[in-house]
Amino acid sequence: MHTSLTPEQERLRDRARELASGEVAARAAEVDRTEEYPWDNVDRLKAAGFIGMTIPKAYGGQGLGYLEAVLAIEEMSKACSVTGRIVVETNMGAISAVMAYGSEEQKRLAAGMVLEGDKPAICITEPEAGSSAGEMTTRADRRGNRYVINGKKHWITGGGVSRLHLIFAKVYDENGVEEGIGGFLAIRDETEGLRIVKREPTMGLRGIPEAEIAFEDMEVPPSALVMPPRGLKKGFADLMNAYNSQRVGAATVALGIAEGAYHLALDWSEKREQFGRPINEFQGLQWKLADMSIQIAAAQALVYKAAASAGPTADGRFPEMVMAAQAKVFTSEMAIRVTNDALQIFGARGYSRNNPVERMVRDARMFTIGGGTAEILRTVVASGILGKKLPQTRDGYLKPRAG
Ligand code: FAD
Ligand code: COA
Repeated sequence: MHTSLTPEQERLRDRARELASGEVAARAAEVDRTEEYPWDNVDRLKAAGFIGMTIPKAYGGQGLGYLEAVLAIEEMSKACSVTGRIVVETNMGAISAVMAYGSEEQKRLAAGMVLEGDKPAICITEPEAGSSAGEMTTRADRRGNRYVINGKKHWITGGGVSRLHLIFAKVYDENGVEEGIGGFLAIRDETEGLRIVKREPTMGLRGIPEAEIAFEDMEVPPSALVMPPRGLKKGFADLMNAYNSQRVGAATVALGIAEGAYHLALDWSEKREQFGRPINEFQGLQWKLADMSIQIAAAQALVYKAAASAGPTADGRFPEMVMAAQAKVFTSEMAIRVTNDALQIFGARGYSRNNPVERMVRDARMFTIGGGTAEILRTVVASGILGKKLPQTRDGYLKPRAG
């Protein structure tokens, strides 16, 4: 029980818990084994109103805040992290950027697709530009009344199942002069030149594809460019600001996985007897369980605080950058420790692929990497608390900055 939740939020969480612990939990092992995107869970989420919750009412959503989305993500992720991630990406990240910065036409398009069950893909990372995303080489060249986009992205969540894509690219004017990093909307199977190259075989989170995507002379009209309020020069900063919502979402999935594993271990520690007593009568395990519960409580407080920092609705607002980074660093590292401890409490049975904890260990491992690594996010936190820009390039302080 979290004391600061309103009765409506508690009801929403209880509804999410019911769905998660029933039909979603029952599917989780199969989703992992088959590595197939759980379209049936998308339908369940849609029917229960957990898709597009943060989309303003004027566009068909519920106009709720990130905290409400977090409550649903947390519950789903306790049972099935893949389903939790679907709730993230239909309420945060690309959809939030479009709803905040998009034109009327873009907002209607994106809201409509998401509410129908499409999980948009956000395409930032490239083979040679991961943490240093600003060094991306995917380019959008203005040619008359079109932009021509060329480049390659990899590790794109949903590549091959997502239809709507928000693609980050360096924008060049007619004369080849760089204008900044912009975000373009394209639709798989509609926008020619968008090609899913291959799927990455992953350690965990296997029900959602991670894909390499190529843009080959992909032509889009200027109306595909999501124009942030401060224009193209500051566009990257504004897009990253929107991305803080997804960082809170990723932290929430990690939190949910840890909670799921903890509860399984707690339950097992009562059932399993050795030396004639439940194993939770050994102090070594009592302290392990206590530490797990403390870390989960701390992580939950950070995640809720970061989500609430955006205000009561998601309408054009985002979680604060430092809080989002703090929440993701702590929660992602906590989830690795807690799932690992949960497996330990199960002994050999934890190492079996028949035990959900084995899947949770694999699933949790991702969150210190995707969405900004724990190292990069520590730099974000340090920059915030020190009030200094901390460029990471060798010549960082000398590098000319756009704007
Ligand atoms: P690198 O940047 O090559 O980093 C390698 C190591 O060096 C890391 O430990 C890193 O922390 C460290 N390092 C790098 N620079 C510094 C520094 N300045 N200080 C200290 N340490 C540093 N990307 C998308 O665009 N869209 C997605 O949907 C998406 N989904 C993903 C899903 C999964 C499952 C995964 C694993 C990744 C996903 N990514 C996605 C990519 C992810 O954002 C990148 O992996 C991440 O930003 C790190 O980039 P990299 O893998 O190239 O690592
Ligand atoms: N929220 C708000 N603003 C942000 C931000 C965030 N999370 N991250 C960066 N910005 C702003 C900076 O304040 C800066 O604004 P300014 O020019 O007005 O001062 C601008 O964006 C550029 O950031 P900076 O840190 O100066 O740029 P950089 O070229 O050194 O790039 C990043 C560093 C942003 C790429 C790096 O910190 C990062 O986040 N890497 C991980 C990328 C990632 O999360 N990928 C996930 C893909 S799914």
